[in-house]
Amino acid sequence: MESFCSNSFSSRLLLLFVFFVLSQRVNAGEPVLELVKGFEAKPDSSVVSFQPLLTDPSGNFSLGFLRLNGSRLSLAVTHPNLTDPLWVFDPTRSASWSHKTKLFFNGSLVISDPSSRVEWSTHTNGDRVIIRNDSNLLVVKTTSSVEWESFDFPGNTLVENQNFTSAMALVSSNGQYSMRLGSDFIGLYAKVNEDSQQFYWKHSALQAKAKIKDGSGPILARINPNGYIGMYQIGNIPVDVEAFNSFQKPVSGLLILRLEPDGNLRGYLWDGTHWALNYEAIRETCDLPNPCGPYSLCTPGSGCSCIDNATVIGECIHANSESPVDFCGKTAEFKVVRRGGVEVPFKELMDHKTTSSLGECEEMCVESCKCFGAVYNNGSGFCYLVDYPIRTMLGVADASKVGYFKVREGVGKKKSRVGLTVGMSLLAVIALVLMVAMVFVWFRSWSREKRVLEEDNGLSPGPYKNLGSDSFRSVEMSRR
Ligand SMILES: *[C@@H]1O[C@H](CO)[C@@H](O)[C@H](O)[C@H]1NC(C)=O
Ligand SMILES: *[C@@H]1O[C@H](CO)[C@@H](O)[C@H](O)[C@H]1NC(C)=O
Ligand SMILES: *[C@@H]1O[C@H](CO)[C@@H](O)[C@H](O)[C@H]1NC(C)=O
Ligand SMILES: *[C@@H]1O[C@H](CO)[C@@H](O)[C@H](O)[C@H]1NC(C)=O
Ligand SMILES: *[C@@H]1O[C@H](CO)[C@@H](O)[C@H](O)[C@H]1NC(C)=O
Ligand SMILES: *[C@@H]1O[C@H](CO)[C@@H](O)[C@H](O)[C@H]1NC(C)=O
Ligand SMILES: *[C@@H]1O[C@H](CO)[C@@H](O)[C@H](O)[C@H]1NC(C)=O
Ligand SMILES: *[C@@H]1O[C@H](CO)[C@@H](O)[C@H](O)[C@H]1NC(C)=O
Repeated sequence: MESFCSNSFSSRLLLLFVFFVLSQRVNAGEPVLELVKGFEAKPDSSVVSFQPLLTDPSGNFSLGFLRLNGSRLSLAVTHPNLTDPLWVFDPTRSASWSHKTKLFFNGSLVISDPSSRVEWSTHTNGDRVIIRNDSNLLVVKTTSSVEWESFDFPGNTLVENQNFTSAMALVSSNGQYSMRLGSDFIGLYAKVNEDSQQFYWKHSALQAKAKIKDGSGPILARINPNGYIGMYQIGNIPVDVEAFNSFQKPVSGLLILRLEPDGNLRGYLWDGTHWALNYEAIRETCDLPNPCGPYSLCTPGSGCSCIDNATVIGECIHANSESPVDFCGKTAEFKVVRRGGVEVPFKELMDHKTTSSLGECEEMCVESCKCFGAVYNNGSGFCYLVDYPIRTMLGVADASKVGYFKVREGVGKKKSRVGLTVGMSLLAVIALVLMVAMVFVWFRSWSREKRVLEEDNGLSPGPYKNLGSDSFRSVEMSRR
């Protein structure tokens, strides 16, 4: 009798406990639509990829802690089916994923991490934080006046209706490429040196519907829901329309524009089920800023090769990060590689000199220790001097277009040992491949188990998904 009693008591306790846990979970799963003064959050050590803190009314976008590289943290606005976040608090910094890091709202949205010396704030005096259904994160007053918005601080992505002004830059996630507005054009730039940029794509305003007027202020760019990037100076009549694939086709869904790590600018359309590729600024691989790496050639139709035939594609020249940035000073010895059938990429955006001979053109590069190479067009007499480390050059059929390149010595020395070590390296490579394969197989089965576990328990707290998967494959395919 007694044991029955205590049994039923304990089962009742158990029931109560289960109920308690369940109701807790329901609460935890409910989307938070606004943050008010006094809000505070810390990263949860059990979260693998994304810890949501706030969502928009449609449930498509979340603000939360995004885990980077295992132990770093960024405050980000994400979409569950997009690999990269739509917005991050600061693309150049991250906090640590530790209990020392906290996010709070006291009128300003503040993230602070004394251990990484990260302190970031919206510097506002608002009453609430919300996300709009277009992913714009806002700090607002009760009067609804907007004190701060994430749309004013884009990262690598521009969202439909977001105003991109000449004071802003879109920067690719690897920090290598940027998009900016000129007086009458959209430009893409590659970082080639500490302090110089290569201009590699330009879209000038056609000014068909409206003209750009001097003294009427800078232009701005905005993605129009009707499927184009519009450039505007005054009002809503565009000075230029750069069409997406969905231009003038009735589609519903959100459009975004993203500067990607390969330097291309791509547009995507969220149609409610997946992000479809909808625009690509650069269609040809060889028109990308650096598709084959340093000291390489990209030849339309046949792909990548090395400027120096003796080297191997993929590692044409090992750019040593410790080596000086130019050929000035006595440590900077180099050998010369000459080759026909070469052009500088984006030559229409590059300065040139006119010389009467190839020798004269080369001589200018020989004399300047800042020069990495010279490319001469025998037909036009144009001489292009490259004053940053050689990246991907353009391969052309015309052999009278000749390139002269300085290649740092030391690379040659390494090569002379190649014959000796090639057998040993081959063995090492085979061993490595085997090892990687084993680890991969183990990791796959481990992560699959783990995922199943998480899905079953609902432990995975966020909708954020790391994608290389399903929905994105279709995008990748259509890219080819
Ligand atoms: C993550 O790791 C990669 C390579 O290890 C590094 O380049 C990158 O800067 C790291 N990112 C952060 C936010 O620490
Ligand atoms: C909010 O907190 C930050 C950081 O602690 C502080 O600098 C700021 O003055 C606070 N703002 C208000 C309105 O209390
Ligand atoms: C987003 O919100 C606006 C009003 O703020 C509404 O007109 C629009 O239909 C909403 N869009 C979606 C996709 O829910
Ligand atoms: C963008 O700028 C236009 C005027 O130039 C303005 O009407 C519109 O509200 C702005 N959009 C946003 C999202 O701020
Ligand atoms: C997401 O956005 C689409 C349109 O962009 C909208 O139809 C849908 O209702 C939104 N919400 C969810 C939860 O998908
Ligand atoms: C590399 O090979 C191509 C064709 O195979 C030849 O035209 C070129 O002169 C060679 N270049 C060098 C630097 O050896
Ligand atoms: C360059 O042009 C000159 C005369 O125009 C010609 O004599 C010479 O052979 C050309 N060189 C090459 C490499 O085509
Ligand atoms: C988008 O993400 C959500 C949440 O992770 C997932 O349920 C859905 O299947 C994804 N959609 C596609 C098309 O991958």
